[in-house]
Amino acid sequence: ICRGLSSSAVRHVVIKNVTIIGGGQMGAGIAQVAASTGHAVTLVDTNEDILKKAVKGIEGNLKRVVKKKFADKPEAGEEFLQKAMQNVSISTDAGSVVQGTDLVLEAIVENLKVKQDLFGGLDKVAPAHTIFASNTSSLSITDIASSTNRLDRFGGLHFFNPVPVMRLVEVIATSSTSQETFDSLLNFSKMLGKTSVSCKDTPGFIVNRLLLPYILDAVRMYERGDGSKEDIDIAMKLGCGYPMGPFELSDYVGLDTMKFIMDGWSAANPDNPMFAQSEVLNKLVAEGKFGKKTGEGFYKYK
Ligand code: CAA
Ligand code: NAD
Repeated sequence: ICRGLSSSAVRHVVIKNVTIIGGGQMGAGIAQVAASTGHAVTLVDTNEDILKKAVKGIEGNLKRVVKKKFADKPEAGEEFLQKAMQNVSISTDAGSVVQGTDLVLEAIVENLKVKQDLFGGLDKVAPAHTIFASNTSSLSITDIASSTNRLDRFGGLHFFNPVPVMRLVEVIATSSTSQETFDSLLNFSKMLGKTSVSCKDTPGFIVNRLLLPYILDAVRMYERGDGSKEDIDIAMKLGCGYPMGPFELSDYVGLDTMKFIMDGWSAANPDNPMFAQSEVLNKLVAEGKFGKKTGEGFYKYK
């Protein structure tokens, strides 16, 4: 077990080996950043094709980074790329790769039961020192952790899309997360070059608690016919300086994920009109139009 002392002299696990479960947009993005900052990463998903696509995406994105960062030093750029890519391995069997891992970070579908089943199973085979963390957008870390016997070594690490570009990580401690675990997660975020904020285990943490109501209000404005989606997007970009309007951003996040978040919060707060069902969102999701990742959502991308 590799351990070190933090500057505040609180012990923390130095995270070197990371298992990332879920090779979708978030998992692949986190893997890219972890690998390019010198971590040994194993990316896990349900099938090889998804993993191959993820690795190809990581390589393509890194090439973009290298082209800019090493514009005057192409050889150093090539070396950086090779090193980063060598840090990434793939697997379809999480149980067989968690031996020797310091952190299991989950970025799978936004469903409590599926996340609980995953961690419940891995808890039995992962080493004692291994920290578990979830990248959930909206679920309670306490609820996810309840399927394990390592409540003190469980926390939240919430990244933002696109991970290589967005500088924030929300680090979430539950009432059972140990100081050592929290410090380890903070230190890991720092090693990835991110700025972290500390969050309580409350729905949506900081960012999504503020972002989702705004996006949902925009969808309702559109449903009422008070503005076209194009005009609402232009208005928020040019009127507020946001890089994307709410419909572009929803497509970017994924409408399936948006619906999972909304459904969870509406079940927990059935009387809150903010989380009432949206006909437009439900229809798009039922049609498999999840946004950018499927080629169509509020907008078309093909
Ligand atoms: N990997 C590496 N670099 C990337 C990248 C990737 N995947 N995607 C974009 N980039 C880089 C580009 O190379 C470019 O770099 P330079 O400025 O150095 O040239 C830079 O990012 C900007 O990219 P583009 O020029 O292609 O495009 P853009 O200027 O339109 O920016 C964007 C794209 C960064 C996505 C911007 O539109 C943006 O910030 N959008 C808002 C994103 C946002 O709000 N994310 C949070 C979503 S909520 C969430 O994530 C939480 C949740 O739980 C749901
Ligand atoms: P995604 O649909 O792009 O990817 C999810 C991946 O998980 C898929 O490749 C799927 O095959 C895989 N998967 C599902 N169940 C699995 C299992 N049991 N074992 C292994 N792999 C499994 O989704 P995403 O956008 O990357 O989101 C992943 C998680 O991150 C969700 O919890 C989401 O709420 C959260 N999140 C998303 C965003 C965003 O903007 N999309 C931002 C922050 C956090």
